[in-house]
Amino acid sequence: MSSPVVSRSGRFSGGPAAEVAAFSESISFDWRLWSQDLRGSIAHATMLQKIGVLTKSELKSIRTGLQEIGREIAEGKFQWKLELEDVHMNIEAELTKRVPAGAKLHTGRSRNDQVAVDVRLWLRDEIEALDLELHDLQRALVDLGSRHAEVVIPGYTHLQRAQPVYFAHHCLAYVEMLARDIDRMEDCWTRVNVCPLGSGAIAGSTLPLDRELVATLLDFTDPRTGKPRVTQNSMDGVSDRDFMIEFAAAAALLAVHLSRLSEDLILWVSSEFSFIKIADAYTTGSSLMPQKKNPDVAELTRGKTGRVVGNLMALLTLLKGLPMTYNRDLQEDKERLFDSADTVRGCVRLMAAMLAHTTVNAEPCARAASDPLLLATDLADYLVRQGMPFREAHHVVGSVVSLAEMTGKPLDRLTLEEFQSCSDKFGADVTSVFQLGKAMARRQLTGAPGTKEVRRQLARWQKQLAK
Ligand code: ARG
Repeated sequence: MSSPVVSRSGRFSGGPAAEVAAFSESISFDWRLWSQDLRGSIAHATMLQKIGVLTKSELKSIRTGLQEIGREIAEGKFQWKLELEDVHMNIEAELTKRVPAGAKLHTGRSRNDQVAVDVRLWLRDEIEALDLELHDLQRALVDLGSRHAEVVIPGYTHLQRAQPVYFAHHCLAYVEMLARDIDRMEDCWTRVNVCPLGSGAIAGSTLPLDRELVATLLDFTDPRTGKPRVTQNSMDGVSDRDFMIEFAAAAALLAVHLSRLSEDLILWVSSEFSFIKIADAYTTGSSLMPQKKNPDVAELTRGKTGRVVGNLMALLTLLKGLPMTYNRDLQEDKERLFDSADTVRGCVRLMAAMLAHTTVNAEPCARAASDPLLLATDLADYLVRQGMPFREAHHVVGSVVSLAEMTGKPLDRLTLEEFQSCSDKFGADVTSVFQLGKAMARRQLTGAPGTKEVRRQLARWQKQLAK
């Protein structure tokens, strides 16, 4: 049975075949837009009263009816009906059943601009909530680094030991990445924050709708000027999904960052590295091997990156080749959008919680960082300070390294004579190159992993992230 508000009622002799209804419904996933749908309808009705389409008492009954429906949905008492297709028709049909004036609500509005406004309202809130959680994750990384501010580990390139860095410096690298993710999300927010209502199905309306009023009621305003922001082309207004793709792209890059962090944690927690310990509550066991403690949260975060990247591809492919304007294909956008938002939200939250329950194993870190080969570049810099061209210094240090290998000694245990057999530029002070504390103090450039600089960066982030 089709409801009186279903657009088929006049034109069609009956409802769609059951299998068509099941194939085309979206209520199973777009029900979660219910509060945005109510909010949009109340703003639209408020405007309809201002322009004389609704009387004051009609507006009042519509508003009360919608609020009542909202309470029932929140309490889980509302009956969603598949045959009413989507969240918009479910709510409108129920309203019209209860309130005769409900039949006037859809004046000058189409589901095409209605769904566009609903997702924009939803995504705007979602970005704001994600933003807060991203800051929590940054805080967790800064805290972890600060709790182990003295710890030095090898930094790696090609996953080979390269040069020493403070553990905190490594953590702060992710804080920087997340700062860019936050920037991208906030930038995306500005394009989500535009009101498409009044675009109608494709061509606006012949009625004197007040689009600016609706935009203002829904807070689609410029945060600086307070001026309403409305879409400027009705065809674009109903078919634009760029803002979703931007979000999906920013979410995909964020997921990639979380995946890289996960990979570092997975390596560090392995017996081979043993740099960190993750609290039991954030790990899982094996059903067969009793000794196992697995970093599943990090692994799942790494794994979920696939679906977030996939969602971006799905949305891009969905839009490609769509003629103007609204096409039913667009209904497929929501599950991808919801999934990207839910997935990154969950990963960010779990990662922050896990890092708060992670500690650094100082001893294995110190052992790994004491590898004198990590300071081979410092040895070349020593020769540069004696006036040797860097290319030559690189070559000389290479021969010192192979001499150490041949004699089976660590680099810092070679005698002065052995050093001098490679270059007479080596003096008795060469041993000071291998004092890790001094080596860390020498790294003074902005952004370098030096003692003072890392402390400065930690302090800068602590201040910036203070709640
Ligand atoms: N459920 C639809 C969607 O998500 C709402 C818009 C339907 N519009 C239409 N003309 N059939 O896209």
